[in-house]
Amino acid sequence: MKITNMMKLMVAVWFAIIGIINQATAQTVWLDELDLSAATQGYGVPMKNKSNEGKTFTIAGENFERGFGTHAVSSLMILLEGKAASFTAKVGLDDEVKGQQPAVEFEIYGDGKKIWSSGIMKLGDAARPCSVQLNGIQKLELVVADGGNGNYYDHANWVDAKFETSGVTTFKTYNPIASEPYILTPKPSDKPRINSAKVFGVRPRSPFQYLVAATGDRPMTFAASGLPKGLKIDANTGLITGVLAKPGTFKVTLTAKNAKGKAEKQLRIECGDRIALTPPMGWNSWNCFAHEVSADRVKRAADAMVKSGLINHGWTYINIDDFWENHRDSKDQSLRGKLRDDAGYIIPNSRFVDMKPLADYVHNLGLKIGLYSSPGPWTCGGCVGSYGYEKQDAESYAKWGFDYLKYDWCSYGNVINGLPENDPYKVSSLSYNGGGELATAQKPFKVMGDYLQQQPRDIVFSVCQYGMSDVWTWGGSVGGNCWRTTNDITDTWVSVKNIALDQDKSAPYAKPGNWNDPDMLVVGHVGWGNTHPSKLKPDEQYLHISLWSLFSAPLLIGCDMEKLDDFTLNLLTNDEVIEINQDPLGKQATCLQTIGDLRIYVKELEDGSRAVGFCNFGVEIVDIDYTDFAKLGINGKFNVRDLWRQADICTIKTGADKLDIKVPAHGVVLYKLTPAK
Ligand code: GLA
Repeated sequence: MKITNMMKLMVAVWFAIIGIINQATAQTVWLDELDLSAATQGYGVPMKNKSNEGKTFTIAGENFERGFGTHAVSSLMILLEGKAASFTAKVGLDDEVKGQQPAVEFEIYGDGKKIWSSGIMKLGDAARPCSVQLNGIQKLELVVADGGNGNYYDHANWVDAKFETSGVTTFKTYNPIASEPYILTPKPSDKPRINSAKVFGVRPRSPFQYLVAATGDRPMTFAASGLPKGLKIDANTGLITGVLAKPGTFKVTLTAKNAKGKAEKQLRIECGDRIALTPPMGWNSWNCFAHEVSADRVKRAADAMVKSGLINHGWTYINIDDFWENHRDSKDQSLRGKLRDDAGYIIPNSRFVDMKPLADYVHNLGLKIGLYSSPGPWTCGGCVGSYGYEKQDAESYAKWGFDYLKYDWCSYGNVINGLPENDPYKVSSLSYNGGGELATAQKPFKVMGDYLQQQPRDIVFSVCQYGMSDVWTWGGSVGGNCWRTTNDITDTWVSVKNIALDQDKSAPYAKPGNWNDPDMLVVGHVGWGNTHPSKLKPDEQYLHISLWSLFSAPLLIGCDMEKLDDFTLNLLTNDEVIEINQDPLGKQATCLQTIGDLRIYVKELEDGSRAVGFCNFGVEIVDIDYTDFAKLGINGKFNVRDLWRQADICTIKTGADKLDIKVPAHGVVLYKLTPAK
């Protein structure tokens, strides 16, 4: 048969039609073709077709060209809208983290239900194949969860990952957590409101300093009636100073007056052996400046504390972290110099030179000042620590006029492991060995705690050893006023979430003078020497501040104080939220009920009311009619106040009424329930 041109054309058209039909019915969409930047992950940025170190993906020696490289805990949300038939991939840990011992679990969720899991995977495990049918699924979530060994140094790969679809050529990825900042709290009134704590502890014969922190128009005049002998108030600034000779409890009425009105508040002064009767509030240099701190930056932070108005909400301490001391081997000459004088007294580095004028400067602003050391020969940053010179150091801090010491374990592990006897300062590596025996773990803190108490001024003692040896059970016995319960915080959701979920076990040990410290705040511009706006989303920041307030945690702002924006200021100046943190009863909230991803935290308050945090750790909004008050230990008739909005919501009768609760993903609703008459 003769093939005509017409026949050729018909065959070509036929094949073209088949091609089009095939395209419409089956299409491959590669995961790496989607916008991966919507992923949230433990640290770093999502990688496309390259490993986290920018190389070809390699899992147990096998190379892969295509895929998505991430870090646990990681989540990528993909909007499938029922248009994907299947997903196939291989998963595993990249060989490039050699020497580490990561463990992760790859998981896939379809419309909130787990539909596949790799099981725990370790470094060196061959890539595991994954194949799931997706018929009808609207939202898909690819998760890399921590494998449970607490080692987060993982490079987790989804490789050769692709969807078979019914014709669509791409999918939208999205981050379900709202990213636009929003301000909930009304501006403070122009009338006076006294915001400083209702109770203050001081030791006999120590210099007394308490600022009547108040918002409202200036000029404002202050008075205090019932002040015990030895104390006086400055009517213009509200600063109460002096010395109390003997122990006792003193009830004082504070007043603040301006053209618009007058405020009154009762203050209880406890003169005895306990200080820090409410959690310390202030700023610390580490989360923003880290190794770049200087006296100038500290002064500017103190100035900003005043200028921003934060001082009027009770923020007090200006704390210098590591790097005010000289360094053992830094190339930065400003950190090099003689470590101690001939009598063993520490010599600050050239960025600080003279500590006393700096402390005076901060005190003159009505604030207090703190600093940092380690019981080991070296601090975590490699500057000189207090080992062998604890007495001299405590004396220096007091002589300079410091009010707070953070004492950080760091190289003390080396002391336990045995320092070279001829020169302990030759030790170059740090060891986080936790102390093993309880007495060994406690010893260095007891030594410094005792020396601090012998000083002629009150120095808040902040124990920092990352929560080892259940420090909450004994931190108070070595003189600690607070103790870290965790490793270092970072400005990621994973970090804040993991820390938050770990606090319940230490909660019963918090009390006036002794606080659990889940580490500093990561709102505002943070970045350990290279600042950026906090990576936490706005709702995550509301949750972070709410939880740290519910936890009765020390509140230490970690951001660059000269870069405070309106949103961050709103987070840090809500006096009703701060009051929850500063409540004189000093109880720490615990989670009393869990509903899916919603955890409900309750904190008992001195006046018989309760602060209740409805905390959503999930990625979907929680919208419920809440009735389970008995589970929260709440019975009767209550006025409900929304603390972030500073607005009364309703009155409820438990057992009869429902509370309509809407909590954003990774967000919070923070209420105060006060018994109604
Ligand atoms: C440790 C602490 C941090 C900070 C640094 C300073 O990591 O946990 O908070 O003080 O040391 O080097």
